[in-house]
Amino acid sequence: MALFPPSSPLSAPSTARPGQTGGASLLSGKPSAPSVLSARPSLAPSSLLGPGSPLSGKSPLSPAAGLSPVAGTRTIRVSPEEFIQLRDFIYEKCGIYIAENRKYLIENRLSNRIKELNLKTFGEYYYYLRFDVGKQAELIKLFEVITTNETSFYRNPPQLQVFQDVVLKAELDKLRKSGLRKLRVWSAGCSTGEEPYTLAIILNEALRSEIASWDIKITANDLSEAVLAAARKGVYSEYALRTTPAGIIDRYFTKDNAEFHIDAKLKRLVSFGHINLSDKLLIRRVERSQIIFCRNVIIYFDDEMKKQIIESFYDNLLPGGCLLIGHSESLHNISRAFKPEYHAGTIVYRKEA
Ligand SMILES: C[S@@+](CC[C@H](N)C(=O)[O-])C[C@H]1O[C@@H](n2cnc3c(N)ncnc32)[C@H](O)[C@@H]1O
Repeated sequence: MALFPPSSPLSAPSTARPGQTGGASLLSGKPSAPSVLSARPSLAPSSLLGPGSPLSGKSPLSPAAGLSPVAGTRTIRVSPEEFIQLRDFIYEKCGIYIAENRKYLIENRLSNRIKELNLKTFGEYYYYLRFDVGKQAELIKLFEVITTNETSFYRNPPQLQVFQDVVLKAELDKLRKSGLRKLRVWSAGCSTGEEPYTLAIILNEALRSEIASWDIKITANDLSEAVLAAARKGVYSEYALRTTPAGIIDRYFTKDNAEFHIDAKLKRLVSFGHINLSDKLLIRRVERSQIIFCRNVIIYFDDEMKKQIIESFYDNLLPGGCLLIGHSESLHNISRAFKPEYHAGTIVYRKEA
């Protein structure tokens, strides 16, 4: 079954809006440009908070939403020493590596935090994060400011088509044959929930009424508590659904003025929780899965951290399980443990059975 029928918005690349990334840009033949805060070795980051981020406080339709400094406020400058201190602190806490040429983004985004705490410099802010009684609460806010939460329903359609037709189909057939109707999917770095809910929709479409006899759980984790709170609510704007087939919107969402509420039966399939992917011990506590989606997340880590996280995914996967990563991400020089399977528009990384 085609995920996106000819009438779907995805079959008409010309409908793409300015600033649109992900699915539609893939269909128009252009790789989606990741909006990244960092990536030590290779990538050219473009924005701190992507357009449409619920945390950006900017219009989701603004193509340059993440790039402009906070309006009407004076930016506090970070000295080279302060930058290194803060960069290393952030890396230590969540694995995100902020390259030297992204310094201005730190200044733009963190100046407000510093002022709200009645501090004057980045040095004072660093000491606050390290030693103040409010350090834990501030760390949560820091994570919210530095992460890019851009996402959408049905992001990267060619990959989802392969997921539906190849990965999921084979897994469901295998489970049916074994009589063990238990499926675990992990959406690591789930942002505001569009990815795990999309997977829940695809699963529901694949199983239809049969789903009641299955034990299915989609574990969805993120570093940011704010995005998790939004994900649990399951209420979205039209923009979040910009690449979703119309029939799917009709079947799985209830429209209330400008808001789209996700169906309760999909909510029941997804379990949201906080995780810091750079924490090896925490990752070990995640239930083992047949399928892991970790898309547009490892792009923020340096190679060392990528290797650590990918190894943890490998350990988490059950034999024969699959890892799917973002369109602009690669395991080249990161892991040789998986067997790559090449499909039109995507690579599936499989653990040996
Ligand atoms: C660009 S979004 C990707 C969302 C979704 N996977 C997709 O592709 O549409 C990246 C997400 O990774 C999360 N993230 C970044 N660093 C993380 C970490 N160390 N642990 C867990 N999540 C992290 C961010 O908070 C953000 O929500």
